[in-house]
Amino acid sequence: MSDDDFTRLVEAEQRVEPRDWMPDGYRRTLIRQIAQHAHSEIIGMQPEANWISRAPSLRRKAILLAKVQDEAGHGLYLYAATETLGADRADLTQKLVEGRQKYSSIFNYPTLNFADVGVIGWLVDGAAICNQVPLCRTSYGPYARAMIRICKEESFHQRQGYELLMTMMRGTDEQRRMVQDSVNRWWWPSLMMFGPSDAESSNTAQSMAWRIKRHTNDELRQKFVDMSVPQAEALGVTLPDPSLRWNPERGHHDFGEIDWDEFWRVVNGDGPCNRQRVEHRRKAHEDGAWVREAATAYAAKSASVEEVA
Ligand SMILES: [Fe+2]
Ligand SMILES: [Fe+2]
Repeated sequence: MSDDDFTRLVEAEQRVEPRDWMPDGYRRTLIRQIAQHAHSEIIGMQPEANWISRAPSLRRKAILLAKVQDEAGHGLYLYAATETLGADRADLTQKLVEGRQKYSSIFNYPTLNFADVGVIGWLVDGAAICNQVPLCRTSYGPYARAMIRICKEESFHQRQGYELLMTMMRGTDEQRRMVQDSVNRWWWPSLMMFGPSDAESSNTAQSMAWRIKRHTNDELRQKFVDMSVPQAEALGVTLPDPSLRWNPERGHHDFGEIDWDEFWRVVNGDGPCNRQRVEHRRKAHEDGAWVREAATAYAAKSASVEEVA
């Protein structure tokens, strides 16, 4: 099969499966994209885990624990999907802790009050849903199938966040101030989750042709803004952007310019928590070495018992 035949196949919405022929570039791009996604799920456990031991009630603790555990599961499905492309999970983890592969910059921001748990659910998981729902139809079969389950769980994450914020907004002035403070800190970084503007984004055209990307960054960002504005109104919070207003001609909300210097600073490793996140991941990986050794020894033992029997 030629590259052109392959492109025609994916353009006809055919799924590509692990044993099918695929261009090297397609395989490489997918491994990088899925690994980056997997790393984001795993690193994303850290900012919220920060609040598990300080959750204000048993109910909130149980919800948060379940959510953080879901993220670990998402990471695992996605690492498994990269393995179907011939990647090695240990190698990907190594690249992450050595800073040679990236994860979503949003997780380099700190969680400063408990409302952050709600705002992360509402805005961060909300932005992730906008990015990920189209990936349920991505051309690579194992990735598309993993995304279906992930998106179902993400929508639970978003709703628990929104419900938490609703509860806080019905509480005391102090609680409402916490929510507003949190929205002020997370709104712009959430918009940055969609990546650079289309004019700056180098991989878009090829990825769109391969059907591993289905909408451009700016299209998805606009969708997220349009979705979030009525939700913010219903909550009673102000989104921190004086330029934000409905544009009847476009049928969309206009919004202000992202601080691209901050965007690139955080992407390039100089955000508020980049070092802390990677260091924590490196230590957790080292501390878990005995578990991996024990599991390998157990698997070898089970296999030899089976052979004897
Ligand atoms: Fe997730
Ligand atoms: Fe999530």
